[in-house]
Amino acid sequence: TRTTVGIVGAGPAGLMLSHLLAREGIRSVVVDHRTRAQIEGTSRAGILEADSVRLLTDTGVSDRVLRDGERHDGIELRFRGAGHRVDFRGLVGESVWLYPQTDVFTDLADARERDGADVRFGITGTRVVDLTTESPGILFDGADGRPCEVRCDILVGADGAHGVSRTAVPEASRTHYFRAYPFAWFGILVEAPPSAAELVYTHSERGFALISRRTDTVQRMYFQCDPDENPADWSEDRIWTELQARVAGPDGFALKEGPVTDRSVLRFRSLVCDPMRYGNMLLAGDAAHTVPPTGAKGLNLALADVRVLAEAVEAAVRTRDRAVLDTYGPRALRRVWRAQHFSYWMTSMLHRHPDTGDFDTHRQLGELAAVTDSAAGSTYLAEAYTGCGAFSSM
Ligand code: DHB
Repeated sequence: TRTTVGIVGAGPAGLMLSHLLAREGIRSVVVDHRTRAQIEGTSRAGILEADSVRLLTDTGVSDRVLRDGERHDGIELRFRGAGHRVDFRGLVGESVWLYPQTDVFTDLADARERDGADVRFGITGTRVVDLTTESPGILFDGADGRPCEVRCDILVGADGAHGVSRTAVPEASRTHYFRAYPFAWFGILVEAPPSAAELVYTHSERGFALISRRTDTVQRMYFQCDPDENPADWSEDRIWTELQARVAGPDGFALKEGPVTDRSVLRFRSLVCDPMRYGNMLLAGDAAHTVPPTGAKGLNLALADVRVLAEAVEAAVRTRDRAVLDTYGPRALRRVWRAQHFSYWMTSMLHRHPDTGDFDTHRQLGELAAVTDSAAGSTYLAEAYTGCGAFSSM
């Protein structure tokens, strides 16, 4: 197959890019080693910035986010057993939408199918080759085991943190900025009514907890755990005892319990790959950078990447000059590093660090009070969380 843009990865980044390019009359082929059912069956994050919602609705992907999504005008920071609301709408006039990434994926996959796009799921043996030539390629195994290939003018690696595209860049041609964290999240889905109207980010001596939601009958919750924790070692009783202890306080706040229908341990890290271009391959989304989950920036960053990338690709195709592709990475990275800082900051402010003592716990409480007691402090959080002001498209 010959196409203009070959895209590895049919997650939100790859599908949104394919959609934006099609609107400019640019052809693309998207391949992914996962099936649609596998992608739709994986629990991912749930918060969209206002710009991400506008990208979905204004480019004609879907307006389901406005019907099924839930607008959130603030979050609660909970520490010393008391809640402190950060009022996004009051502080910066913006909101976020609670709309799970799996729904974003479904909307995008449906839209690409509706528009007759070439999207191939369940592809095995994917490799990217000839990246520094005029005709880079995606090689994979055909249904009958025959070798297949997609040749293109521009190749995009949007295949996530563990994909094949970033590692195809020779080490001498990239810098990896990396940070590991000495903890992970235990994530659960629960059949129960919501415990709070807005998301609750909790600092406690036992570690971080996040009370999120999905629907009126299904809730999403996370608590900090050891990276080597085995989810099977946790009975439902033990999960609830731990979560209730972390959110407990003099105000009597307690979680509404119910059957735990899904559980997993999420390890996380910070990573940035610079540059985001190698020859005629460009990296987008988690393939280029990953953030810790606190603050839910991963999906939003991926969508911001492809908005900038679609412009660069469109200019390169129109002028027949690939030099303009060099504008993509530096533009995207300005936003990436702000989001890296925000995610790192939220993570380190709210989690218990296993190797630090009382001083750091009290320092964190001082930091949280400095955020919630100050309009300047909470405005920074509101801007970064909603992706407006200094955090909007750059
Ligand atoms: C969710 C995940 C996050 O990392 C976050 O900061 C907020 C919400 C979620 O899955 O609902």
